[in-house]
Amino acid sequence: MVYTDIKIEDIQNWLKDNLVEERYIHSLGVMEAAVELAEMFDMDVEKARIAGLLHDAAKCFSNEKLLEIIKEHIPEVQECELLNYKTLHAPVSAYLAKTQFNVSDSEILDAIRWHTLGRCKMSDFEKVIFLADKIEARTRELAFRNECLELLKQENGLNKSMFKCFEATIKSLVDRRLAICHITIDVYNELLADIFA
Ligand SMILES: [Fe+2]
Ligand SMILES: [Fe+2]
Repeated sequence: MVYTDIKIEDIQNWLKDNLVEERYIHSLGVMEAAVELAEMFDMDVEKARIAGLLHDAAKCFSNEKLLEIIKEHIPEVQECELLNYKTLHAPVSAYLAKTQFNVSDSEILDAIRWHTLGRCKMSDFEKVIFLADKIEARTRELAFRNECLELLKQENGLNKSMFKCFEATIKSLVDRRLAICHITIDVYNELLADIFA
């Protein structure tokens, strides 16, 4: 199945022009990790490849530009999603995937849309893209990657790895005295109940 009529090299060239080098390398890493996890969980590899590659397409836009696009084209973005500017690129990257790269597959668009905050009742595909972003081998910490890969081999491994990520994210937000969107807390509670109840 083909998920965009644009050649992968053309997408990569656009990303190269619109991301700083480290973020471009990270995007390639997420593409590779998404494929790795899709194979592990018997999912659509092509779908994972496109979602991984495009997940941070808007990452290097200015905050002003991100807010402008959200205001103009993505009114469903909630107030609490604007608490931390680092998460703004997720809905805008999904918007770019749809409008710039002609992706219409809702699973790809949702996985990109929710790759920063997560959301309750995430699909397994959304979890795979979320995790690929955290454990890609090119720029992320190797120890964290290996710990997540170990968890992924266990029963309920997707949720166990997701929980590890949310635990780390919430701790880090608290340590830096940054605001936490209630969506993040809701996902943490959902995973906690699923794993430890
Ligand atoms: Fe991102
Ligand atoms: Fe990313």
